[in-house]
This record gives sequence, C-alpha cells and structure tokens, in this order.
Amino acid sequence: MSAKTFEILGGRAPDAFLRDYWQKKPLLIRNAFPGIEGLLEPDELAGLALEEEIESRIIIERSPIDWELRHGPFTEKTFKNLPQTHWTLLIQALDHYVPQIADLLEHFDFIPNWRIDDIMASFAPFGGSVGPHYDYYDVFLIQAHGQRRWQLGQMCDDTTPLLPDLPIRILRDFQPDQEWVLNPGDMLYLPPGVAHYGVAQNDCMTLSVGFRAPSEQDILMEFVHTLFNDNVQDRRYEDKELKLQANPGWISPEAVDRVADILRRAVSDPQKIAHWMASYLSQTKYEQAPEPPEDDYSEAEVQDLLAGNQSLRKEEASRLLYTGDVLRPEHFFVNGEEKEIPPLTHSMILYLCKHRSYRPATLDMFCRTPENLRFLTGLLNQGILYFEDDLYDEDEHEEEEDEETGPADDL
Ligand code: SIN
Ligand code: CO
Repeated sequence: MSAKTFEILGGRAPDAFLRDYWQKKPLLIRNAFPGIEGLLEPDELAGLALEEEIESRIIIERSPIDWELRHGPFTEKTFKNLPQTHWTLLIQALDHYVPQIADLLEHFDFIPNWRIDDIMASFAPFGGSVGPHYDYYDVFLIQAHGQRRWQLGQMCDDTTPLLPDLPIRILRDFQPDQEWVLNPGDMLYLPPGVAHYGVAQNDCMTLSVGFRAPSEQDILMEFVHTLFNDNVQDRRYEDKELKLQANPGWISPEAVDRVADILRRAVSDPQKIAHWMASYLSQTKYEQAPEPPEDDYSEAEVQDLLAGNQSLRKEEASRLLYTGDVLRPEHFFVNGEEKEIPPLTHSMILYLCKHRSYRPATLDMFCRTPENLRFLTGLLNQGILYFEDDLYDEDEHEEEEDEETGPADDL
C-alpha cells in the first residue's frame, strides 16, 4: 500500500477505513489532496465537453422542481447561452482522457481495480448542483476548485420517493442532518444510498471517484450467457427414478430438486466463475479499443527505449486483471480478452496490474527474459501500454518502487 493512501485517508490505515467506513458510513477528510488545485482548469473541462467521443451532460436548475438535462457534445454557443448561475457541467470518465487525473486513482489502490468505475468531473458556477439525490455506488468526492456546500441526509433505496416527471433523479423529501463546506483538497466519502446535495458556493469543480457494483441481475444474466458457450445446452433433464404420480398435473418436489441441482451445478465451479469475472470485469467502460502505435515496435526498439529511461503508461481506459493466487497469476485478462501467460512472466504481470505508469528500469530488468520482452512488446503494439514523450522522473514516483513485488522473482 502506498504512503499516498494514508495521506488521503487523513492518516487512517486503509484496513481501518475499510472496516469502519467502506459501504457503511460517510467520512470527511480535510486536505486529503493538498496539491489538487491547478491539476485541471475549469476551461479545460468545458473544452472536453465539445468532443464527440466524450460523455458530457449539462443540468440546469430552473427551480427546485424544474430541472433540465442536456446531453453533449456541446458547442461554444451552448456555454455562452447558459444562465449566470444554477447549472452544472458533468464530464464522465475524465481519467480516460487526462493522465494526471488517472494518476489520482493510484491513491485508491486499497480497493480492487475492478470496483473502480471512473472519475467524473463537474463544473458549476454559484448555485449549481445536480439536486438532492442518492447514488447506488460508493463515491469519493474531491473538491478540486472553489467551494461546495455538502448536505447529507437519510439513507435511501429503490422505494424512496423522487420528484415526478423529471429527467434526473431528485429526492422528494431531502432531510439533511449534516453539513460542511468543502475547500480545494478536501474529500468526502459516501457509501451507496446516502442522500446528498452539493451546491457550488462560487466557481466550483468537483471530481467524483466512482465505484461500480454490478447488479445481481447483471451478474446472473451475464454469467448464464457464458454458460451457453459451454456444452451444457446439449445435456437434458433426466428422471430415471421417476415415480408414479397421483396427478399428472403436479410438479413434484423431486422434479424441483432435479432442476435445482442443474442450476447449482452450473454455478458451483469457482474456477469457471473466476474466469468469467475476469473476462466480464476487464471489459472497458466504453467500446472504443485502445489505439495501436502508428508503426509496430520491434523488440530491439522497446529494449532501447527502456534502457533510455522512457516513461511508459497503461492506456488510460484499459483494464488489466488477473485471477489465481495473489502472487501467481493463473489467468490474465486485458479489456475482456485473455492473454496467455508465458513462462516466467508472472512478476511482470503483477507489476503491470499494480500500477498505471511504469518505471523503465524495472521493466528493463523484467525484459532480460526474452518471453517478457516479447510479451511487453505485444502489449505496446496493441496500444494497451504506451511510451510517453518524457523520460521517467524518479523524484515524482518516490516511494512506489520500494515495495514492489520483487522483479527478480522470476529471473
Ligand atoms: C457533483 O459533482 O455536482 C455531483 C456529484 C454527486 O453528487 O454525485
Ligand atoms: Co451523487
């Protein structure tokens, strides 16, 4: 666990946070991200809202019971014609487009990567908000610019009444019982279901580190879908020990048991479930595949770039996950697809899964094994990893290499 994690949790140990707060109760952490201001300017956010492939929305509060929702991409004219106050611009998956925003996620490495959805950013002038509401997901709300007043209220669920006929979900009866004004660098953690209402006090930018939790319905449907690729559909219901029934219209408890058994067998293989989870959960948020480099790298070029200390990153939207033992990956998935793990490549996979940006010297060491060099070159040529323009700066990444899973393991 990085020292950064302790800082953002206000000095709390991550396991204590998980035990006492995660999915349980809100937590305000003052000055969790002291240097956050200036990481992104509000103008840059507005610029992103003009882009076709970026998911953006504007929410305008006409009155507490009259809300308007617009979907991007927007034009400069849209922004010129907005009211002075009481609107919010939302940009989804900012971490996919801005590497320094993606880097914030390294502070949240005490929660499994697959639980992370994205970092959403909001910009609002005075009075702007998305209304009192609740979310189905955990969220860390980082104040990145200006001030926002947050009020928290009751626990909600599907049965909590919402205002009717609105394009967004606004609570009918918000009952605030706590209130804080967040300054730049402050962070508020909210578990799912807590009613919350954040109102901009001035030009205000908030980053929401959002988590995902697949619905049980999705889990069932998606898993059952993969069963169709197995040969189970060729097997039929069997009742060799069928007993004579008093009424042929009856579905006997024995028949129900036989069907329950079929269902149980289908979902009782942890290996199969793990494999499916890795494939399903490593799928990217949007369909767009990573862009490969213009020209393929040769293994010799990769070796030269690593030796020359050229920084590397994971393509921001890509998801790398593995199953098996925590120190011994059995199956490695990237963006929904399994990659065959060559012999001796385990430690490199652990390293790639743990970080988002990589130290060339560490990868250089792994790549003394030809299989690792070939594997890494393959990932680079698929655009899953990419070389940055800059050289790697040791000072920027101080402590993170100290506690690596030893790269020497396999060598
Ligand atoms: C916002 O940033 O305005 C809204 C975030 C949220 O309430 O989930
Ligand atoms: Co919310």
